[in-house]
Amino acid sequence: MAAFRLPHPPHLSLPAASLIESRTALLKRAARDAMDYLEGVDARPVAPSPEAVAALSVLRGPLPPGPTSPEAVLHLLHEYGSPATVAKTNGRFFGFVTGDCLPAALAAAWLVSAWDQNAAHHVQSPVAAQLEETAIDWVRDLFGLPEGTGGAVTTGATMANFSALAAARHALLARAGWDVEADGLFGAPPITVVVGEEVHQSVIKALGLLGMGRKHVVRVPVDGQGRMRADALPHLDGQTILCLQAGNVNTGAFDPAAAICPAARAAGAWIHVDGAFGLWAAASPEYRKWTKGFDLADSWATDGHKWPNIGYDCGIALVRDPKYLRAAMSIEAPYLVHGEARDPSNYNPELSRRARGVELWAGLRSLGRSGMAEIVERTSSHARRLAAGLKAAGYQVLNEVVINQVLVSFGTPEQTLATIARLQAEGTCWCGSTVWQGQTAMRISVSSWATTKDDVDRSLVAMLKAAQG
Ligand SMILES: Cc1ncc(COP(=O)(O)O)c(C=O)c1O
Repeated sequence: MAAFRLPHPPHLSLPAASLIESRTALLKRAARDAMDYLEGVDARPVAPSPEAVAALSVLRGPLPPGPTSPEAVLHLLHEYGSPATVAKTNGRFFGFVTGDCLPAALAAAWLVSAWDQNAAHHVQSPVAAQLEETAIDWVRDLFGLPEGTGGAVTTGATMANFSALAAARHALLARAGWDVEADGLFGAPPITVVVGEEVHQSVIKALGLLGMGRKHVVRVPVDGQGRMRADALPHLDGQTILCLQAGNVNTGAFDPAAAICPAARAAGAWIHVDGAFGLWAAASPEYRKWTKGFDLADSWATDGHKWPNIGYDCGIALVRDPKYLRAAMSIEAPYLVHGEARDPSNYNPELSRRARGVELWAGLRSLGRSGMAEIVERTSSHARRLAAGLKAAGYQVLNEVVINQVLVSFGTPEQTLATIARLQAEGTCWCGSTVWQGQTAMRISVSSWATTKDDVDRSLVAMLKAAQG
């Protein structure tokens, strides 16, 4: 491969007017490259070719001693970076729980990058602070949560779980007369954390980060769909954090919140819900039934970059009484002058941060209630269509397809893994693997707004072909 030659002279010493002109030209080129990429993505395999991944070596090596022109940097990225992406925007990426980026959210992300706002304080960016607050309230409303609930826009559900659980930790220890932010956890009164056997590992990681221990949890048995068994709950009291799940990453199943929450609340436990994608089902009149009872919780974590298709990265933490989140997250210094308005940094782990709340606002504004409901309904119906097609061909669907997640076995673990490898190599679509309650399976998560019925049918043909060897 021919090495790219760096142009001269160095651009950094250009006069101001030329700098503006060359920046404008650069941004137009970046927009053109981005559009070329998005327009071409449908025609290429979902997974990048091994050659494209190998060619990334051009972008490695030591930092050059002198500058590289911005045009050359962009050229390198588009020439070598674009082909080494996973084509997740073509509607046929079914791995993990991966949304796409709605046009309005993508366009907002471009504008937000041009604004280069620091969304730490209202005074640093009134627009970022206010739109973030509005977007949080829209999410609260879509989920049917109590008015007054507040929150934070985080990098994802892991940090949303972290933030909400930090609020829980504060509240429970404050109740016991302990100031955890000031005094830490050494010598603190004990807290019991109860999770389902099928808890997502991001909750466990968040507990570790919070000093509460990855292993120091009581695990409640689950049923065949991964739902916490309400009849197997341990003793709960005012020093317990109970972590429920709305949407299992494998099956999509929901813990029976309506059966669990009233008694847990009466016992004084703090109820936290990891609803990284499942809570969005509340937006749909057809699927809302699965989220019944989760509104009784004290805190919730979810993702903008999953079902709502806001683009990476975007998570949301919600806390019924936001004073606990503020107590866990606030930061004071003489130069950080707070005004009347809400300062995002008092509710988030970070101080300086990207204005990702603007992208959330833009995506949700473009969808409206009905648009969010439509994504939930359409992707779930695509999931059912895939499940039906696989079943009809004689393969075993391992889960009840309640929302957008399907687990399928193609026979022995080796047969299933070989099918997945052939499917990924063929490139029409992309699915990953998992082990569900001892059975190796292919995971299908239909999360993209862009997936069409035609994508589903093409993907089904590819899956059946891959299964036949
Ligand atoms: C149920 C659940 N919780 C939490 C997470 C973590 O989300 P993130 O990757 O945005 O941190 C996921 C990711 O798939 C998930 O499915």
